[in-house]
This record gives sequence, C-alpha cells and structure tokens, in this order.
Amino acid sequence: MKYLSSRRGIILAGGNGTRLAPITSAISKQLIPVYDKPMIYYPITTLMLCGIRDILIVTNPNSVELFKALLGNGDKWGVNFSYAIQNKAEGVAHAILVAEKFIKNSNIAIALGDNLFHGNDLVNLLRSADKRIKGGSIFAYPVSDPRNYGVVQFDKEGNILDIEEKPDNPLSQYAITGLYFYDNSAFERIKELRFSPRGELEITSLNNHYLNQNLLNVEIMGRGMAWLDTGSFNSLQDASGYIRTLEQRQGLKVGCPEEAAWRQGWIDDKCLENLAFSLMNSGYGEYLLMLLKGLK
Ligand code: TTP
Repeated sequence: MKYLSSRRGIILAGGNGTRLAPITSAISKQLIPVYDKPMIYYPITTLMLCGIRDILIVTNPNSVELFKALLGNGDKWGVNFSYAIQNKAEGVAHAILVAEKFIKNSNIAIALGDNLFHGNDLVNLLRSADKRIKGGSIFAYPVSDPRNYGVVQFDKEGNILDIEEKPDNPLSQYAITGLYFYDNSAFERIKELRFSPRGELEITSLNNHYLNQNLLNVEIMGRGMAWLDTGSFNSLQDASGYIRTLEQRQGLKVGCPEEAAWRQGWIDDKCLENLAFSLMNSGYGEYLLMLLKGLK
C-alpha cells in the first residue's frame, strides 16, 4: 500500500454549483455530504491513495474559511493542505492556473471536488498514470449517455483519436472523468488557451493542447469500477445511496482520508486513535478504532 508520488495534488472546489441551488446559495457544493462524509473527502482520499501528500485546495472566496475549518493544514492526516482562491468561476483550466504559484516545478494531479471514484483497480490505475512523467493522462469511463461529458475516442492500442466536448452524436461511450495528471507544462499551455463561448477556460482545450502534440494518454476505467459525479440532485442522491449500500454491506468505508493516511504510514496508531475519539458519536470514530483492532 505504501507509495509516494512526487506530484502535487490540486482539488478544484470552486465553481458556482448552480445545479444544486438553493443548497449551494450559502455553502460550497464540496462541503455537503455524500452519505456520511463531506464530498471533498472523496477526491482527497483518491489523491492520498496515489501517494500525494501536498495538496492545494482551490475554492471560491466565500468558502475558503469553511474548508480551512474542516481540513486545517493537513497535519492531522499527515498531509499538507494549502488553499488558493479562484475569484470567479472561469472554468476548470482557469482554476488550475490559479494553482501555478503553489506548484512551482512539480508535475500535478488534479481532482474535481465533486467526483468520486471507487474500485479494486483504482490504485493501480493511479500509480500507472503517476509514473508517466511527460505529458498528460486522462481517465475514461464508459457511460450509457456520454452526451453531457467530454468524450474520448481511441483505437485498439489505446491511442487517442479524438476528444469532443458534450457531443450530440458521441463517437464512443467513454466519458472523460474528473481526474487529470499533467506535467508542469500545463500552466504554459493554459496561458495559450482562449476563453470558450461560455466564458471559461475549458479543460477539454487543455487536453487537446496535449493531444495535438501526441502527449496525451488515456487510462481506461473498466466495468468493475465506479465513477460518480455529484453535481445534480439526482447524481448526489445516487452517490449517497451507492456509498451507503457498500459501507453497510461490507462494513468498510469508501473515501476515508484517516484510513488512507494510516495505511500509508503517514499517521501512527496513536494519531488514529485520537482522531477516532473526536468522532465517537457518529460511528465514524468507532470505524477508525476497528481498524486499529485489526478487525477490518
Ligand atoms: P462544474 O460541475 O462543471 O461546475 P460547478 O461546480 O460550478 O456547478 P454547476 O454546473 O452546477 O454550476 O465543476 C466541476 C468541478 O470543478 C467542481 O468541483 C467545481 C470545480 N470548478 C472550479 O473549481 N472552478 C471553476 O471555474 C469551475 C467551472 C469548476
């Protein structure tokens, strides 16, 4: 399980969350729960499972203090959290650019704050993309209706042929998920992009920038994996139901950063125990104690 990446992580937790209004009128989408924990715990855990310890959280100006109250500087989980503010929701690629100062020369792994991944193969896929130092990697997942997503078409050898944004007639079933690994040239590439007709710097444009130079790879997420986005009432409810079903059936939590930190060896037994005692009333703490007792 122990693995350390040299990448820095970025979680994009800005945006307006208009599809979840009025819930998002006063609170960021990524702070609301997906079953038993705040939404942002899931992408944080995804990056931690990839061995990433330095994580920047990009938020909108109104919510940064709330994210700090929830997550702090990361000490409690043996990671480093920093915060950056995106003043206006001008697109996913724009939010990445906000991170430039924090990142300096490192390669990066970006997770959308409202995307949730789960499955046996996840860690292997992440680590395989992590090892690719040059260029970018996207993660594709088959969905029944890809028309609302970026869609990737690729040949039998896995070479990308085309990427389309929200196509009316998709050329494949494979949607591009909210997880992107890039080398450090991403920042210079974003500076060359133009704003789209909807006024955003689009992640699809960044991916195409890499693709045009043959520097974009795709990792395929198979049918044994789950990718859920949680940006609408129905998808949020579906994700909560999925997590609840799995957790109740298996007695194992999905997206539990305390567990990921402990399994990675970034916090010791004593730290995990202290975290557990602060969470006893909800059952979350009991779960952490069960881990210590070796019952999970
Ligand atoms: P979206 O779901 O595309 O946008 P949104 O969160 O503003 O929601 P809505 O469509 O309901 O208005 O964003 C995907 C993720 O990217 C989400 O976690 C927020 C983040 N994001 C930013 O951090 N900055 C941005 O400018 C945008 C557009 C999104």
